[in-house]
Amino acid sequence: MQKIAIAIDGYSSTGKSTLAKQLAKALNYKYIDTGAMYRAVTLFAMQNGFISDGMEDLGALVKLLPSIKLNFVPNEELGFSEIYLNGENVEKEIRTLQVSQFVSRVAEVEQVRHKLVEMQKALGREKGIVMDGRDIGTVVFPDAELKVFMTASPQARATRRYKELLDRGDRVSYEEVLENVQKRDFIDSNREFSPLRKAEDAIEFDNSDMGLVEQFERLHSIALRCLEKV
Ligand code: DC
Repeated sequence: MQKIAIAIDGYSSTGKSTLAKQLAKALNYKYIDTGAMYRAVTLFAMQNGFISDGMEDLGALVKLLPSIKLNFVPNEELGFSEIYLNGENVEKEIRTLQVSQFVSRVAEVEQVRHKLVEMQKALGREKGIVMDGRDIGTVVFPDAELKVFMTASPQARATRRYKELLDRGDRVSYEEVLENVQKRDFIDSNREFSPLRKAEDAIEFDNSDMGLVEQFERLHSIALRCLEKV
């Protein structure tokens, strides 16, 4: 059967990754979380002292961009790939609220976007891929056979994210998480390069009141219908 590219875009904490992962597994496709790539570059900037509370030197980050190596390495046990930054597994470190607070600033930098978009295009060259992010349907794979744009209310998204962080042992307040979600929405939608917007040919998917099973079933059947047509 012919393979397709599936682009899943949308606001932060809409559950894109969970759904994209499940879909990739069901179709036996590769899954790429592009948010993890922006997060890993942010972690690199933090580790090197280029960004912290009240301080940023994004020019210094740009200079060191060529030294940043990102890889996705399959974890057989988990059933999906994990991201490595210069040879080190950073899956856990990139999910903290601190990284979330700085990542939108790093994702605004044109040279960072350029580097990561080129890597993403290369990863999808052979199709058979589900990729999630903000600009996949508009910039990375404008010709993707299936494009999905996920939305949910900021409150629904903050509640999900808050639970996730608590489960992970992070001490945060719901208000802090909601503020972070809203701030990221604003920056992601208003940045100069590749702002978050729905591709004209994307299907809008609002999951504020939908459980995981229903979301997966709906999206899976949309993907199967799409596959029948290619
Ligand atoms: O999906 P996420 O929350 O892990 O993404 C982290 C940040 O990276 C988010 O604030 C926006 C940015 N991002 C982006 O600008 N473009 C992408 N394709 C993916 C993520």
